[in-house]
Amino acid sequence: MALKLRVHVPTHPLIQHWLSVARDEATPTVLFRSAMTELGRWLAYEATRDWLATIDTEVQTPLATCAATFINPDVPVAVVPILRAGLSLLDGAQALLPLASIYHIGLVRNEETLEASCYLNKLPAQFPANTRVLIPEPMLATGGTITAVMAELTARGIDSSLVRIISVVAAPQALQKLGGSYPDLVIYSAAIDEGLNNQGYIVPGLGDAGDRTFGTF
Ligand code: URA
Repeated sequence: MALKLRVHVPTHPLIQHWLSVARDEATPTVLFRSAMTELGRWLAYEATRDWLATIDTEVQTPLATCAATFINPDVPVAVVPILRAGLSLLDGAQALLPLASIYHIGLVRNEETLEASCYLNKLPAQFPANTRVLIPEPMLATGGTITAVMAELTARGIDSSLVRIISVVAAPQALQKLGGSYPDLVIYSAAIDEGLNNQGYIVPGLGDAGDRTFGTF
């Protein structure tokens, strides 16, 4: 099946720098966490470029009247970090979106079947119309977890064309799966890697993003 969804790989040197720091197995946990925060910030910056609703108006400067553009505070913005690893990108993204509501969702992957099951869901029963959703999910591997989250969101009234996913490393398998189900979804990923090993880890990837963020090896 042809890949229909829109996947952006920003070439910004800061994104490539922090990606390289995160990939390096010699990077200690404290620096890995900083790298992920920076990636959250810069990926969110790129992903929100044409997504945040704005209002055009005027302001009075000390010298004259001037055209002005503000973020529209009446259009709801939600961030849905997928526990655990999604938390690593949250601080950076939240710095850019201080008024966003944060709805946590926790999924764990069965290491044998690679199926995702949900153990925490703080999503509302229904989202307000036109809510924009940013999903920080650093590793898009098999696509099982993110597809399950997308199903929860669309069941609650979210329009998939208003969703942006920020990811650090994506595998073609996940992009293929998402493209089949949500062709209008937009993804910003610092890299697209070759594929998965037989344990479902992205190769070359960066290892287990949750363990490297929280120092649980
Ligand atoms: N989750 C991770 O943390 N790393 C991978 O490579 C795949 C899934």
